[in-house]
Amino acid sequence: MNAYNCISDDVILGKDVQLSRFINLYGCEIGDGTKIGASVEIQKNARVGKFCKISSHTFICEGVTIEDDVFVGHGVMFINDTYPRATTLHGGLQTEADWKVERTLIKKGASIGSGATILANITIGENAIVGAGSVVTKDVPPNSIVAGNPAIFRRLIPQNAAEPPVSEPIPFLDLITPHLELEHELTGVFRQALHTAGFVGGAVVEDFEKAFAAFCGVSDCVAVSSGTDALRFALIASGVKPGDVVVTVPNTFIATTEAISQAGALPEFVDIDEHTYNLSPAMLQQYLEKQCKQDAAGKLISLRSGRPVTAIVPVHLYGQMADMDAILSLADKFGLAVIEDACQAHGAEYFSKKLNRWMKAGSMGRAAAFSFYPGKNLGACGEAGAVTTNDPILASKAKMLRDHGQAKKYYHDVEGYNGRMDAIQAGLLSVKLPHLPAWNAQRRDHAVEYNRLLAENAAIVLPQQPSNSRAVYHLYVIRTADREGMMNHLKKAGIGSAIHYPIPLHLQKAYASMNYSKGDFPIAERVAPEILSLPMFPQLRPQQQARVVQEILHFIEP
Ligand SMILES: Cc1ncc(COP(=O)(O)O)c(C=O)c1O
Repeated sequence: MNAYNCISDDVILGKDVQLSRFINLYGCEIGDGTKIGASVEIQKNARVGKFCKISSHTFICEGVTIEDDVFVGHGVMFINDTYPRATTLHGGLQTEADWKVERTLIKKGASIGSGATILANITIGENAIVGAGSVVTKDVPPNSIVAGNPAIFRRLIPQNAAEPPVSEPIPFLDLITPHLELEHELTGVFRQALHTAGFVGGAVVEDFEKAFAAFCGVSDCVAVSSGTDALRFALIASGVKPGDVVVTVPNTFIATTEAISQAGALPEFVDIDEHTYNLSPAMLQQYLEKQCKQDAAGKLISLRSGRPVTAIVPVHLYGQMADMDAILSLADKFGLAVIEDACQAHGAEYFSKKLNRWMKAGSMGRAAAFSFYPGKNLGACGEAGAVTTNDPILASKAKMLRDHGQAKKYYHDVEGYNGRMDAIQAGLLSVKLPHLPAWNAQRRDHAVEYNRLLAENAAIVLPQQPSNSRAVYHLYVIRTADREGMMNHLKKAGIGSAIHYPIPLHLQKAYASMNYSKGDFPIAERVAPEILSLPMFPQLRPQQQARVVQEILHFIEP
């Protein structure tokens, strides 16, 4: 202490605090062993922990709490009011009574570089580092380095020697770990099948059907051999006939349109919403009102093909449900069936304003199709799928379709298909189903983390989740102008990524005979060359995720 300092009597100074000159402290608390540089001001009700280093010319205002072992560089500014004003509404100068002090928390061991500005209401996580000159506008995750104006995530600080070296390849999808975690229970299913010769049908399949129906919040589930079959059976069982038109989106996996064609119908496309990449209700309305007409019998006829339009297949792409209230009300108005393609959306939810509750994927349409392809959020160890519905008659039709058109052995009411789910897959899925909510929660956490680490980057469009949606992030898809460049950069760094999907269906060779052309669906076409799916699976570790982001940022700002 020395004569040039101004330290008021209400300051609580710990043991062995070292003070330089021209320091102004009042009403604050400073912990043992902390060192404070020249011309530092610390206001009342601010708290600085033990063994901190506060360098010269720093200003620590009311509302700031600095935990132990924190380094604060020179000239760091803290702010405690988001809307500072000089005067009141009546024109006089504001006094303390006019502003609300907002909190700032600097957690133990963090470091703040010289010249940084920390806005109000921020938490800087344990051991985080803020680069010199940064402007911190949002919370900083623990153990991470942020820099810039606004400060964005740069990389994680390695914490644990047991973590993999940063060069370890990161797969797009890890299908081995979840199976090894459940190895004992899964192999038990194989053993039971061998011991009972229960390979097709039976209680194991029925048990899974009951459990999955309960998970989706529907009365019926029909286990089938793939998502494609599920969609085909759902379409046929809901009354789609050969020659009908079924409306869907151009940015889906070809299985969606294959199933429509296999039901004997013709797919016609409607463009997508630019933010969710799902069927745009506005475009659907335009299609139904402008590109269709009603014939004398009141049937809706597509002007493009001259055929009757009977169903809509919204695809809950990447694990996010389409805007079902709007789609269902258009379907009602035009007398169409809605069959959800929920193949990527096990457990996704949508808040229906009409029903005033959250609804699960697969529970809103007349029927829905799920895929249990191994890479899905709920995946079999081979091919499998399911139809879900609240209509028991539709369910019994789907059951007949999957089993050669028979309800009773060798009594065939219609010609059907060999489309049953085998009992081993049903048993494996029953083992995995109880884990699905936790796996989906992990995917959501990873999405939140990607969003946070990649935020405020002009070169990247992040996935968007409307407030009426709880997505399950089957895929985490960003958009970027130089998609191929970024993908190659990630590949060279040993990081897997993928494109879902590179060419919209209306421009695929397989559909050349439909006579669609470039420009017919501008949003789907604009998005296709920019989308990139990043590694996303429940067991993705924070260090892996941070390295994916680090490489993306290196590519953007080499
Ligand atoms: C949107 C969509 N629809 C349908 C399917 C078809 O499912 P499956 O591969 O089980 O036949 C898939 C599977 O990848 C899909 O992603």
